[in-house]
Amino acid sequence: MSIDLEKILRPTDTPLPEYPPKYMTLAGGEQLVIRQVTREEIPEILPHVEPLMHVERDFYDIVASRVYAELLGYYTYRVQDEYVLAAQIDGELVAVVNGRMANKDVGISYHTLALRRGLRVGAHAFAAKMEYHLDILGQKEVLIVAESPIGFRRWMIEYKLEKRFHVPHELGGCPSWSLTRELYDAARDTLIVGRRPVPEQLLKKAQQAILPPTDPPRPPVDLLAATRSLYDSTATALLEQRKKLGGLRDA
Ligand SMILES: CC(C)(COP(=O)(O)OP(=O)(O)OC[C@H]1O[C@@H](n2cnc3c(N)ncnc32)[C@H](O)[C@@H]1OP(=O)(O)O)[C@@H](O)C(=O)NCCC(=O)NCCS
Repeated sequence: MSIDLEKILRPTDTPLPEYPPKYMTLAGGEQLVIRQVTREEIPEILPHVEPLMHVERDFYDIVASRVYAELLGYYTYRVQDEYVLAAQIDGELVAVVNGRMANKDVGISYHTLALRRGLRVGAHAFAAKMEYHLDILGQKEVLIVAESPIGFRRWMIEYKLEKRFHVPHELGGCPSWSLTRELYDAARDTLIVGRRPVPEQLLKKAQQAILPPTDPPRPPVDLLAATRSLYDSTATALLEQRKKLGGLRDA
């Protein structure tokens, strides 16, 4: 009986081609590998996303909470046609991106989460997921939203995304933006980077284990340093906490 119910609850995934792993050398000389992770690897990623749910800076809290739920949804077969890519440096998890195939022509971009700042690893991981939708799945467009000003700069402005405001995005029903094939082709030479195949040792290291981020984003000492709170006149709870902390200056 319970087995039959599980069959009803569990959507049937469309067989999708795998994202071919790629690598690139970052400005600081680090080798970044971006690869698709399997469902079985999700429990290795969740513990590194969970702490970010409490980082009230640059909208890490809301994005990490949603990513956690989406990864769990993928792991427990509660979402259809999702995929997850991981970006790793020496095995260390530095970014996670995910998305979903809505139908043959339209891709849904879910989230991009950088676990190491200042290297553009988030931007590279996002580019890889666009590559997956347009080059590997051969879709016509990807629907995207931004939940943070940094996300807006990275996706809407850098790719010059088109408005699709009449289409509510799966993420919270916000108005969608679209990366069309034309926009993607225009960005191909500048924003979509990386080489294939990944050297065997490099890929092996990434596949061996998903290592914890060594310098993950942390909550600011003074919560008012969170960019969002700084300009939020309703952040009275944070003002109270600041008073208790003894009027710390912005961190
Ligand atoms: C959006 C995001 C994926 C971009 O990742 P990224 O390309 O690797 O870029 P970073 O986050 O490292 O840097 C973004 C900016 O913050 C600055 N920055 C660098 N290190 C920083 C740090 N330790 N703290 C705060 N800002 C930092 C960078 O200089 C960069 O400025 P620029 O846009 O002028 O280049 C990442 O900021 C993130 O995960 N944010 C939280 C979740 C989120 O908003 N996701 C996107 C949802 S739409």
